[in-house]
Amino acid sequence: MMKTALPKIVFATNNEHKLEEARALCSGALEILSLSDINCHDDIPETADTLEGNALIKARWVKERYGFDCFADDTGLMVDALDGAPGVYSARYAGPGCTPADNIRLLLKEMEGKNERTAHFATVIALTLNGEEHLFKGSVDGEIATEPHGTAGFGYDPIFIASETGKAFAEMSPDAKNAISHRGRAMRKFIDFLIH
Ligand code: IMP
Repeated sequence: MMKTALPKIVFATNNEHKLEEARALCSGALEILSLSDINCHDDIPETADTLEGNALIKARWVKERYGFDCFADDTGLMVDALDGAPGVYSARYAGPGCTPADNIRLLLKEMEGKNERTAHFATVIALTLNGEEHLFKGSVDGEIATEPHGTAGFGYDPIFIASETGKAFAEMSPDAKNAISHRGRAMRKFIDFLIH
């Protein structure tokens, strides 16, 4: 039997972890192209001060300059005791060129001695499709650990203890994380919209 080609859509990222997560969630329904797959090597400016704004900048950039329908995500870790920081600045919390380990160190330092450790991850996905724009949101509640746990995942995963499992994201399998994560939840809304 001949295989029908899957609809193609660009995910405005080169983050291999995110591509892997998205491809697992969309498997069999959509072919997801990365920015390097379409030869886009631009440093897309993320200058908005909201997750929605940054996700839209990235999706529009690809649509306008490369002509592909595209989705882009922006994620923040909001810590209640730090008035929502690092929030939209989660990627560069410890300064320009910082590593995830630098961000974790700084966050643990800011949280030293704090008993109130609740936090949540939020993801916004922006989609350009057939001349329209759509937004999909997901979030997950948890707490900031006092030290790193586990080696899976990326970013702040070793210090985010998900309320639903009592485990750090970095101690969970990719499937278990996807099932409850901010991005998993936003991605499922996005996929339901695209496929159903
Ligand atoms: P971005 O908007 O997805 O690039 O994420 C912003 C920041 O949040 C980056 O520092 C990421 O490492 C971090 N981040 C995003 N998603 C996750 C996640 O699922 N786990 C841990 N950290 C994340």
